[in-house]
Amino acid sequence: MRKLIAGNWKMNGLRADGTALARDLAGRAAKAPPACDLLICPPATLLAEIGSLLAGSRIALGGQDCHADAKGAHTGDISAPMLKDAGCAYAIVGHSERRQNHHETDAAVRAKATAALGAGLIPIVCIGETAAQRDDKEHLRVCGGQIAGSLPEIVGAGQLVVAYEPVWAIGTGRTPNGAEIAEVHAFIRGELKKRVANPDAVRILYGGSVNAKNAAEILAIANVDGALVGGASLDAASFWTIAQAAG
Ligand code: PGA
Repeated sequence: MRKLIAGNWKMNGLRADGTALARDLAGRAAKAPPACDLLICPPATLLAEIGSLLAGSRIALGGQDCHADAKGAHTGDISAPMLKDAGCAYAIVGHSERRQNHHETDAAVRAKATAALGAGLIPIVCIGETAAQRDDKEHLRVCGGQIAGSLPEIVGAGQLVVAYEPVWAIGTGRTPNGAEIAEVHAFIRGELKKRVANPDAVRILYGGSVNAKNAAEILAIANVDGALVGGASLDAASFWTIAQAAG
């Protein structure tokens, strides 16, 4: 399966630096397209502008979250049709920062993922255990519960991405070792086999402190179909090195 390298910019980027970064990446992709799919998920304020400048490029656009409803009285929220309208093809849902900071439950994440699918977006459903859960060897049970609770009920082929992001690895510079990543990704593939019609068409991304140095090793692990990159996606050269490692 062709790998997907996704950049999650989180709450970073004003118009000047965000558009400059997107332009830089689009230029690199035009000159020497890597043998992987590319996605960037800028903050909502930049989606429409970056969507226009990526039009016709090899880089897809994604939102970082969406509301479960298509429209209505939800001050400050953004709906899946709005993301689609801004040029998005993907929406991240259930990132651990949203599960923690916005108290999103598995059921809420499933509703968002279902809304994304309904709007014609591919949801990237994030799961992952905390440090305490890993210490207690509860990581598979936790990830299994999140899969059972937060994946959409019905998924067409190629219409779903799952991102395994151990909470303790996000933004910390710490990553699980190769065997630990392989264990969870194989487990996720097995869970997908029980639940979706085309489990092998679902990309399983690893996320958490992926950088230009460790990307090649992580991307070579079985069942790692790409990466969800936070900090290192804010630097064009680092993101590009990771993309090349996926090819
Ligand atoms: P990080 O973030 O690469 O900065 O660890 C990854 C993520 O949260 O998606």
